[in-house]
Amino acid sequence: MINLAIFASGNGSNFAVIAALIKNRKLNANLKLLVCDNPKAYVLTRAKKLKVRTLISQDENTIVTQLKKEKISLIVLAGYMRLLSKHFVSNFKNKIINIHPALLPAFKGTNSIQRAFDYGAKITGVTIHFVDEKMDHGPIILQQAISIEKRMSLKKLEAKIHQLEHKLYPQAIRLFTQKRLKLSGRKVIIG
Ligand code: GRF
Repeated sequence: MINLAIFASGNGSNFAVIAALIKNRKLNANLKLLVCDNPKAYVLTRAKKLKVRTLISQDENTIVTQLKKEKISLIVLAGYMRLLSKHFVSNFKNKIINIHPALLPAFKGTNSIQRAFDYGAKITGVTIHFVDEKMDHGPIILQQAISIEKRMSLKKLEAKIHQLEHKLYPQAIRLFTQKRLKLSGRKVIIG
């Protein structure tokens, strides 16, 4: 079974969904650690409740040392608001995945749900991708669209995006744990 670490900076709804699935053996992994860069983040309260160990740090060297010690083979970024350095990424090549609340390469960066909404996009969605040294850039694992219907409020769109995230991220993690993701250049082949 693979050892997994989740990185989060804020609310932690994706963290909670993934942690619960692991606890209920619906995902075949050991959740070893939550790494959080913000001591005030709500995700820390969730981790305490779910009895997941936490590392609160902004220092990559400290984090890498801990991850190596724990033999982590998958890092799941779930609302982690910090860009990982080239050095960090090369330490965990093709072992870091991220979730983005838009259809990449559209609306990279922060505040993507609102930006897609304000832009007047008719379609947006969720992307799960491998992480490389550029922001929101690595090979796409899964992607699913949501239509922005006429008169849909931003609140409603946000709710729909988060609902989809909570379904799609576990699917991507499952594919990884089953070793079904193969890279061919920047294409991810699902076997
Ligand atoms: C999600 O929308 C994710 O796509 C983005 O940050 C948000 C984190 O939400 N990267 P939560 O902290 O998991 O509730």
